[in-house]
Amino acid sequence: MRYILAIDQGTTSTRAILFDASMTPVQIAQREFTQHYPQAGWVEHDPEEIWTTTVEVCRAALAKAGVEADQVAGIGITNQRETTVIWDRDSGTPIHNAIVWQDRRTAPICTALREAGHGEMVHARTGLLLDPYFSGTKVKWLLDTVPGARARADRGELLFGTIDSFLIWRLTGGRIHATDATNAARTLMYDIHRGAWDDEICGLLGVPMAMLPEVRDSAADFGATELDILGAKLPILGVAGDQQAATIGQACFSPGMMKSTYGTGCFALLNTGATPVASTHRMLTTIAYQLEGKPTYALEGSIFIAGAAVQWLRDGLGIIETAAQSGELAAQADPGQSVTLVPAFTGLGAPYWAPECRGAVFGLTRNSGPAEFAKAALDSVAFQTRDLWEAMRADWEDGAQVVLRVDGGMSASDRTMQGLADLLGAPVDRPVMQETTALGAAWLAGMRAGLYPGMQAFAANWALDRRFEPVMAPTDREAAYTRWRRAVRAAMAF
Ligand code: G3P
Repeated sequence: MRYILAIDQGTTSTRAILFDASMTPVQIAQREFTQHYPQAGWVEHDPEEIWTTTVEVCRAALAKAGVEADQVAGIGITNQRETTVIWDRDSGTPIHNAIVWQDRRTAPICTALREAGHGEMVHARTGLLLDPYFSGTKVKWLLDTVPGARARADRGELLFGTIDSFLIWRLTGGRIHATDATNAARTLMYDIHRGAWDDEICGLLGVPMAMLPEVRDSAADFGATELDILGAKLPILGVAGDQQAATIGQACFSPGMMKSTYGTGCFALLNTGATPVASTHRMLTTIAYQLEGKPTYALEGSIFIAGAAVQWLRDGLGIIETAAQSGELAAQADPGQSVTLVPAFTGLGAPYWAPECRGAVFGLTRNSGPAEFAKAALDSVAFQTRDLWEAMRADWEDGAQVVLRVDGGMSASDRTMQGLADLLGAPVDRPVMQETTALGAAWLAGMRAGLYPGMQAFAANWALDRRFEPVMAPTDREAAYTRWRRAVRAAMAF
């Protein structure tokens, strides 16, 4: 048994990556799936499509590699976090589409909870803020809205899970209802200090605790797949939310190490070790991973629009044909202009947490065109990272020592990463291995299976592709960042 199969169930696609015994990805299969937008600000996925694409990519990756399932030592699952599914315990049938992390429909529930004075208690226990981003208010909405759901939940007929949990349930033929601590930490219902579901918060949300999955370590026994799914009973041995898996894949195992992943959104996690740090700058406190019953905590900054700003240039404005063209176009921008885009298309995440805010463009002139828009979109990603960078370093005792490692689609662009180093005023490290998320999940499973090395040897394997050093003049950097801060304030006031 020389392989590990990593399932990466993301927001826009489902992937399976087969890793060999030396932790090298040998085959990959990917399927995009449908995004449902039933109303402005609502985003849903069909859990059945998530399930079928998961099975398809696993089978395809094995077939393309010519590897039999019985050569696989274990499965690691990593997933889009917070996205919420409720299904029937007996039939396994979801009662509604999954409500995706980006969905803003529960903003009024969050406001009501905040106005009732629950914000501080929820923050202290979960490390999270009352924002529609997290699962808890989505569960409440489903139980309140789907006819008969609350009564069925009260009778113990319904189960809740984030995507990992739903996939574990399906893969094990309905035998295991479990999640890992990193995914639990994103639900708004889990006390990250006690390591337990919080009955008071569940009570506020009207969520029966019998619906909740059992919380396990990130490397643990999550049951085995049904024989007919992949042709062998494969043990599921690793589970982590995708941003936490990337933190692991980037080997950010020491306090002060930070990773930033550029996908649809951008998620930065700073390892703070065995101590949860309560942010005073509106960062989240979360669990980076939990091994042998011991959680390692992180500060997290989540921004909702990063790569999605480039998608908007392509699909919304139609000024580029491929995402890769954005850097080239931005390089042609007139240096005399300061067009600034606040990409609050779905509200603003950290550190602003303004679900009702919408996007805005400032500084347009008669000469502003596609190149200036492209530059503004790429700059907006760097500015948002700078917001997180400032907040985290202020929260963290030794902010000056923070090391930043980047990954995700946009990190492949030298120009964008140079722009990031310039606007941060700090070096940015890009690893050779770009499949950090899948690698993190594979390592959890492979280590548990005894195929992969322990943490230190794994960390020693991390290799630098390129370090981007800042070259921008500090006065220009600060002037640009001041403009950004002004633009955000104006967008929020609109
Ligand atoms: O918190 C949401 C995050 O986990 C989604 O990540 O890579 O699927 O956009 P991604």
